Amino acid sequence: MTTTVADIQEDNEQAEVLQGLTADQKNVSPKYFYDAKGSALFDAICKLPEYYPTRTEVGIMQAYVDEMVECVGPEAAVIEYGSGASTKTRLLLDHLDDPVAYMPVDISCEYLHNVAAQLAADYVDIEVLPVCADFTKPLSLPAPRREPVRNVVYFPGSTIGNFSNSDAIRLLRQMRGDAQSDGGLLIGVDLVKSREVLELAYNDPAGVTAEFNLNLLRNLNREFGSDFDTDKFRHEAIYDDEHQRIEMRLISLQRQTVRLNGCNIEFEPGEYIVTEHSHKYSYESFAELAADGGFTVSDTWTDPDELFSVQYLEAA
Ligand code: AVI
Repeated sequence: MTTTVADIQEDNEQAEVLQGLTADQKNVSPKYFYDAKGSALFDAICKLPEYYPTRTEVGIMQAYVDEMVECVGPEAAVIEYGSGASTKTRLLLDHLDDPVAYMPVDISCEYLHNVAAQLAADYVDIEVLPVCADFTKPLSLPAPRREPVRNVVYFPGSTIGNFSNSDAIRLLRQMRGDAQSDGGLLIGVDLVKSREVLELAYNDPAGVTAEFNLNLLRNLNREFGSDFDTDKFRHEAIYDDEHQRIEMRLISLQRQTVRLNGCNIEFEPGEYIVTEHSHKYSYESFAELAADGGFTVSDTWTDPDELFSVQYLEAA
């Protein structure tokens, strides 16, 4: 039997998951949230009254889109990292001055191509160039037919907050490379706020976030043949003041052994797996991160309660 690239990739991923689950602090990458069910659950989270980021960011975009498109300028190429349904992007595309191209980058190829086809039909003057890729790895972007005045990366949703500081810097530097000398980055940045508001947003009473978190265990079972029993874990999200981040956890309800690829993973009652960090920023802490990534903050827009911000960064 021949070994394929996909086999090797799966082996690497399995080794990575196993390493996380046997570390002193058990952890699994948040990328395992997002199968079709996980993506649908995330969409449902975005509509929850307690989950303020989505509706607040959309409100900021609606209120200040004219100023944002002024920053982007005419004849730009817009590159969106992790484009998904490209919902917020439509607002930008509706207002931009003669954009040359829109390049949505997403790892779900089929979904990406469907969304891109719909956008190409709706925006006939914009060249839509979908890029099916994992944006955490170096990207090779297509050249639009028309030469853009500048490249602007769009990264909404405060997804930057799901990366560790070093990974966020690496990602920003990659975006800085895509933006080239005169380009920029339009980015959604969630702000530090009270523990009550934050913890409610990630522990919604309807239990959608809990279901989203537990679904990660089902994904591991399907992808790697493990035997997690979701009834033996519970969801919790706590705000860690020191690191200014939400930590999503799956807590073992009892002493148990989970099997994964011939290995035993032991859990004590109350022991937990960290499944996600969601960093929150002050204007200062984000400016520092941006500088480490090769950008300068040029404009910031926020809502009246300063829950969330959208920022335009220029290549430094
Ligand atoms: C995708 N990301 C920005 C979300 C967040 O708020 O960090 C993921 C999420 N996790 C739980 N609820 C939402």
